Amino acid sequence: QRRGAEFVMFSVPSYACQRRTSLDNRNAVLTDALSLLADNAELSGDEGRGVAFRRAAAVLKALPKPVTDTTQLRGLPCLGEHSLRVIKDILEDGASDEVESTRRSERYKALKVLTGVFGVGVKTADRWIREGIRDLQRLRDSGPALNRAQQAGLQHYDDLNQPVTRAEADAIAEIVERAVASVLPGAQTTLTGGFRRGKLTGHDVDFLITHPEEGREEGLVPKVVSWLESEGVLLYQKTARNSYLEGRDGPGRPSSSMDRFETCFSIFKLPREEKRGAGQTHGAACGPEAGHKPWRAVRVDLVVSPVSQFAFALLGWTGSKLFERELRRWARHEKAMSLSSHALYDNKQRRYLRAASEEEIFAHLGLEFIPPSERNA
Ligand code: GTP
Ligand code: MN
Ligand code: MN
Repeated sequence: QRRGAEFVMFSVPSYACQRRTSLDNRNAVLTDALSLLADNAELSGDEGRGVAFRRAAAVLKALPKPVTDTTQLRGLPCLGEHSLRVIKDILEDGASDEVESTRRSERYKALKVLTGVFGVGVKTADRWIREGIRDLQRLRDSGPALNRAQQAGLQHYDDLNQPVTRAEADAIAEIVERAVASVLPGAQTTLTGGFRRGKLTGHDVDFLITHPEEGREEGLVPKVVSWLESEGVLLYQKTARNSYLEGRDGPGRPSSSMDRFETCFSIFKLPREEKRGAGQTHGAACGPEAGHKPWRAVRVDLVVSPVSQFAFALLGWTGSKLFERELRRWARHEKAMSLSSHALYDNKQRRYLRAASEEEIFAHLGLEFIPPSERNA
């Protein structure tokens, strides 16, 4: 409806890292549709098209009001012909045929289910589908060779596809902090990822760990893992060593989007709320005989950073994924700099730019500081 004062033209800067995107999304119907098309493009191996849809969705997330008419979108960045057509269809007809037929397609549904198994990527899912494996039942029965991650993913499928709540994230944080404090006193643990951005739920819980004395953090992940294992907390873990060497494969080099910190991608066994703290007094109601195990599986990511790289790691692991991608694109194309989770390199001055806080990194990049809660692009 184009009713006078109700009609608003919008304007937003073109990079997601130049604008504030809170969790208060006024255009969720539109952005859900575009995100589904982005998912579908990525599941089909078309990353470029996926990013295009994600950028379009991010522009709508940044708008202060619901869009009611496509003419309001004139001049907005990142809205290609395809995205505009989808938006128009939804505004005019209440739905987009392309989105709905994609949502219903057997291939899309199968790819979603199979890549919903922790450890299964697009290529594996695609191969399984060509072999006739389209659902979890077939996957369990026909048993293609599964690696350790996929076995754990399949075993804990339901738990891992149930959103992690903030209360569960806090309970996990308490466990991680206890582990870290007992193997390296003085080390600091920070909640990152979606929960740092203020999200109320997540698909996992992310932590960044450092120590104020450079070097003391070395070898921390294996020690934390041992502690957690001895407490029976881990259902699965895969640890990677730090392999970052400034200058050798720093941000000046193209292959550096892979992270090189000490990391641990894990699955925690988290006691259920009733059991946490309150002891085992009313165990019967939620015991195994009630068909309800007394714990649940939760994905947890641990990352250890030397304190000199902490600000970059914090910025890099806070997300959102699109916000991160846009920061790197801004750095490269507008500033001739290379940003990674380890460092910022100025290609013109041919030197690394140090930073002790996220604020300093935004300043180096010539960007207004965007707080974590406004990085939900
Ligand atoms: P939910 O977990 O779904 O709630 O969202 P999230 O934003 O926390 O996503 P996720 O846990 O997947 O990632 C958190 C941040 O860490 C994102 O900004 C990612 O880009 C970043 N991240 C995740 N995995 C990696 C990785 O292997 N390397 C690097 N460098 N960054 C990663
Ligand atoms: Mn996360
Ligand atoms: Mn994560």
